[in-house]
Amino acid sequence: MTITNKQSGTNVHEVADGIYRINTPVLYAGGIGAFSFNQYLIVDDDPLLFHTGLRKLFPLVREAVTSILPVDRLRYIALSHVEADECGSLNEWLASAPHSSPLCGTVAALISIGDLAERPPRTLADGETLLLGKHSVQWLDTPHLPHAWDCGLLMEESTRTLLCSDLFTQGGEGQPAVTESDILGPSERFRGEIDYFSHTRNARAMLERLAAAEPTTLACMHGSAWHGDGANLLRSLADAWDF
Ligand SMILES: [Fe+2]
Ligand SMILES: [Fe+2]
Repeated sequence: MTITNKQSGTNVHEVADGIYRINTPVLYAGGIGAFSFNQYLIVDDDPLLFHTGLRKLFPLVREAVTSILPVDRLRYIALSHVEADECGSLNEWLASAPHSSPLCGTVAALISIGDLAERPPRTLADGETLLLGKHSVQWLDTPHLPHAWDCGLLMEESTRTLLCSDLFTQGGEGQPAVTESDILGPSERFRGEIDYFSHTRNARAMLERLAAAEPTTLACMHGSAWHGDGANLLRSLADAWDF
């Protein structure tokens, strides 16, 4: 793990071949305590950043990306759904990387990104695959899982990494960068305190579809990334729900 900003503790770690987690711990007042925001950089011919981080974190995330590759090489600035931690600094990235495009699902493009972003998005249909070089990502629509109509996830096929956004959100500072320990228990405790999931009746079917992709790395937006039998963990998450 490399610390890229001593003051904030922002750090980078390669969690799968060519996929880097950028982690910034934050401390919230009012009893929430420590939390973390991660972004994932896929280094390839067409580099992709999956979620931008909060707009106010942009200088820290840019500094971290710069430690891995020149920012103006970025080709895709991707997001799962429209929220500040997913795309708050989207326009700052588009300005810093002149050859980059927003990358999102069809619903996000239609309802938000086509209007909010300074350049039109590259839109991915459900099931569509995008080649980045050695890596390729498949877009999977997951409406309302865990929240937001426009929600979708990316599956990186060469490393079997599921870029799972807010699924398996864990509190705390997000260390270690990667764990093989249980993250379902901590993420369910967090969900018990903050009910950030929608209650879509299609959750189990969507989790089963994600499990069928057989990920071996789960790239969580909040907390540690995880290595292991992702299909089993996704099915355990479905079982943990009672709706
Ligand atoms: Fe979210
Ligand atoms: Fe998030």
